[in-house]
Amino acid sequence: MKTIFSGIQPSGTLTIGNYLGAMKHFVTLQEENNCYFCIVDEHAITVPQDRLKLRENIRSLAALYLASGIDPEKSTLFIQSEVGAHTQLGWMMQSISYIGELERMTQFKDKSDGKEAVSSSLLTYPPLMAADILLYGTDIVPVGDDQKQHLELTRNLAQRFNNKYNDIFTVPEISIPKVGARIMSLQEPTKKMSKSDENQKASIFMLDDEKQIEKKIKSAVTDSEGIVKYDKENKPGISNLLTIYASCTGQTISELEERYHGKGYGEFKQDTANAVIEALKPIQERYHELIHSQELDDILDNGADKASFTATKMLTKAKKAMGLGRIKRKA
Ligand code: TYM
Repeated sequence: MKTIFSGIQPSGTLTIGNYLGAMKHFVTLQEENNCYFCIVDEHAITVPQDRLKLRENIRSLAALYLASGIDPEKSTLFIQSEVGAHTQLGWMMQSISYIGELERMTQFKDKSDGKEAVSSSLLTYPPLMAADILLYGTDIVPVGDDQKQHLELTRNLAQRFNNKYNDIFTVPEISIPKVGARIMSLQEPTKKMSKSDENQKASIFMLDDEKQIEKKIKSAVTDSEGIVKYDKENKPGISNLLTIYASCTGQTISELEERYHGKGYGEFKQDTANAVIEALKPIQERYHELIHSQELDDILDNGADKASFTATKMLTKAKKAMGLGRIKRKA
């Protein structure tokens, strides 16, 4: 049995990118592993947030985790800011991180590009992410493709700490799905689909209704060739829809290419929309049952207790290794 950790930011409504690249795989992983899934609200405040909206997004994300199939009997689901050890170890990880390596992170470059007021926490985001992972003795971190660089840094920081102080951290492996690791924008298919894209037509949100999904997929940017074929370089729009269709149904891309051979984009787009609608329908139904329930609060309370128990033990080891605190005198 391996220990798995992953987190999602409550920085907006989740997209099918978050679902197909990450969340969907968490559900399978929890069957045979010791899993921790986190709502990383402290990461979300690295960019400005509306306080009421953030609260709403945190609860909504928790409900979506559960509605997607995260089972609180098998996995620990919790909110990052309810487990104090994350920011404490995050600070310690900052003190072994170099400014140069943090400035090289593409996410930092993208998010700070052209902005006047960039928070210092946007720069020190990756050491907090490392802390999230290292607190639980994590073996595997399932994420989408865009988190690769952060994971490499986490591995470096773990090794650096182990060499410098004491060998306490497990160096985690990254797990990226073969299909769906990078779902692209429907409007600019060379760009990643993102919760924070201002163009609403670019992303399918997990709570979009049938009409919205159909409309967005029908207006997805493709090409004029009329051939349903996977070719990321020359046909990014069609390749993205093929990936979405395949990930939602479990069919392979070549099966789909064969099925739509000689058919136009109209039928293919309609069927892709149906596949997404079918995949999201049961999740949305369960979501609405959970969102205002006491059950959701109970699960999160329990999750925070369980996570704190494990995280505090590792934090104590890390503090001791670094020489923080004091040796108490015996009475
Ligand atoms: P976040 O909130 O941006 O995304 C959550 C997860 O969704 C994946 N993802 C995608 N996968 C495929 N296609 C896309 N278009 C797409 N967009 C997002 C992400 O790769 C991620 O797995 N830094 C992290 C949150 C985090 C974390 C952690 C993750 C904080 N601490 C510890 C793992 C372990 C983030 O911003 O994810």
